[in-house]
Amino acid sequence: DRSIKIAPSILASDFANFGAECAAVEAQGADWIHVDVMDGHFVPAITFGAQTCKALRPHIKTVMDVHLMISPVDTYLEGFAEAGADIITAHVEAGPHIHRTLQNIRSLGCKAGVALNPGTPAEAVADVLDMVDLVCVMTVNPGFGGQKFIDMTAKIAKLRAMIGDRPIHIEIDGGVDPTTAPLVAAAGADVLVAGSAVFRGGSVSNPTPYGENIRAI
Ligand code: DX5
Ligand code: ZN
Repeated sequence: DRSIKIAPSILASDFANFGAECAAVEAQGADWIHVDVMDGHFVPAITFGAQTCKALRPHIKTVMDVHLMISPVDTYLEGFAEAGADIITAHVEAGPHIHRTLQNIRSLGCKAGVALNPGTPAEAVADVLDMVDLVCVMTVNPGFGGQKFIDMTAKIAKLRAMIGDRPIHIEIDGGVDPTTAPLVAAAGADVLVAGSAVFRGGSVSNPTPYGENIRAI
C-alpha cells in the first residue's frame, strides 16, 4: 500500500499523557504511531524503553512503529517484540551487525525497518533490502524533535529505484511539515513521521488542531 501515511511521533506529545495522546491523534486521523526510543549513548537524549511501549500498546489501535536509536540493539529486541511493536526499526550505524539484527527482528514476528542517518548513503542498505519492510530516511540527525529539515530527496529517489517492486515502505523522519512533506512524497516516500508539526497548538483536551495539522501535512 503506497498511499501516504502520517505517523505522529509521541516525542512531541505530553510525556505525562502518552496513552491519551496516542488515542487523540488516532481519533484525529493518524495512520501509525511513531515511538522514539533513545538511549543516551547512540543519541544524546534518553526517552523510554520497552516497558513504556508495553504500557502504550492498549492505547494504540493502528500500528506501533518503534524507532530504536540505541546501541547495542540486539539484546533489547525481544523486549520490544513482547511489548507489541508491529515494526521495529534499527539504525544501520548502530552496529555491529545490521544483517543479524534484521534477521532477529523478523524471527520475533515483527516487521523490520532499517534507518539511515543523513550522513549515510543509500548504498549502505543495498545488501539488506530483501530483509526489510521499511527503510527510514532520517532528514535530521537523530536525537531531538523540532530540528530543521535536511534535504534528502536525492537519497529517497535513489532508494525507491533500488527497492524496485519490493513491498518496502520509505519512511521520512525529521522536520516533516506541510512545506517539506510534498518534496519527500514526490521523491518516493510513503510514510511521513511528524512530531512538532502534528502536536503543535493542540492537547488531549483540545485535539482538533492535531487533525488540522495532519490534514495540512
Ligand atoms: C528524531 C526522531 C524523530 C522526531 C521528529 O530523533 O527520530 O522521530 O521526533 O520530530 P520532528 O517532526 O519535530 O522533527
Ligand atoms: Zn523517529
